[in-house]
Amino acid sequence: MDSGPCAERTLVTTRLSQLSNVLSLPDPALPGQPLAQVDTPSLVLDLDVFEANLGAMQQWADRHGVALRPHAKAHKCPEIARRQLALGARGICCQKVSEALPFLEAGIRDIHISNEVVGPAKLALLAQIAVRADVSVCVDNMTNLHALAAAMAQAGARITVLVEVDVGQGRCGVTDDHDVLALARAAEAMQGLRFGGLQAYHGSAQHVRSHTERAAICGQAAARAAGYASLLRAHGITCERITGGGTGSAEFDAGSGVYTELQAGSYAFMDGDYGANEWSGPLSFGTSLFLLSTVMSTPAPGRVILDAGLKSLTIECGLPQVHGRAGLAYAAANDEHGVVRVQEGVAAPALGEVLRLVVPHVDPAFNLHDTLVAYREEAVVGLWPIAARGLSR
Ligand SMILES: Cc1ncc(COP(=O)(O)O)c(C=O)c1O
Repeated sequence: MDSGPCAERTLVTTRLSQLSNVLSLPDPALPGQPLAQVDTPSLVLDLDVFEANLGAMQQWADRHGVALRPHAKAHKCPEIARRQLALGARGICCQKVSEALPFLEAGIRDIHISNEVVGPAKLALLAQIAVRADVSVCVDNMTNLHALAAAMAQAGARITVLVEVDVGQGRCGVTDDHDVLALARAAEAMQGLRFGGLQAYHGSAQHVRSHTERAAICGQAAARAAGYASLLRAHGITCERITGGGTGSAEFDAGSGVYTELQAGSYAFMDGDYGANEWSGPLSFGTSLFLLSTVMSTPAPGRVILDAGLKSLTIECGLPQVHGRAGLAYAAANDEHGVVRVQEGVAAPALGEVLRLVVPHVDPAFNLHDTLVAYREEAVVGLWPIAARGLSR
């Protein structure tokens, strides 16, 4: 048997089809089937709510004259990106270089990597993508900018550089005026690079629960971004794009007069964490994404066990909620089990019953599943591959 590197790569990339030579894994559902017959645990998408969410964010962006560039890190699913683009989105964001590949494969040609890309392997792949698509990337370091230019030169590619500024989150991004100017000037001067503007994303603002406090923090972030843009203008550098914004800040960023582009992602689905925000303004979204899970054991009064635990959802943002079933509380997640406590006086769900869970955090939940089951009026409509699942290099 050939044991060279190509054979190894084949084994990894065809993991599922190799399995299917022995016994194929059936799809979790068939179009037309009732939702209750979907094999679980499965992520399911309520298309009516999902489409309303997509429309609401796109209209909000249009009304304020800003572009919407939804974040594909939230769903990793090309079919969803296609639908966002069809409604008017300018392009997509990806957080990792490898994550962009399935979207490129799906024909998407306007991709912003909303992140720094460091290391020769990633830069070489980024350059290959930039040969095939209109790509922008974040930079917050001069050494990295030089490495990026070298990778582009090697591939004969051209890429747009956005200098990432830290507007309050304390993650990536420069804060010093001198650094902002130096990076922008260098990006303008280097072959294969084009300076396109700023990324000013404030992640920790997104989940500030109070609407008023969130508005204030987003206002401060926008003011900082505006300051960097006017610094550049004062030195003769045009700042074409100022990109940022997530689901929690889009309401404020769109009308700030500062941001030209919104990067929101979770708005299409809404998770438990975003559900806990106060949504008292003009923009709000419904929960369209659920994890279906089956009662696999009813071992004691007051306790039933579900077939979905840590391998189907993550709990860093809290435990999932049991949707539409008062008196049932998902109390603990084990690897493959979820423990549900049944309040006294409430009828326990029966063995085999399928419950709907609101996932606490959509991004890592999508990353745990191969397929998204789309449904309308309780019937399965389609199975959408979560093609970028696991692509985090
Ligand atoms: C850089 C960047 N932009 C946009 C988003 C999208 O945010 P959300 O899914 O909260 O809308 C994220 C999320 O973490 C992000 O890191």
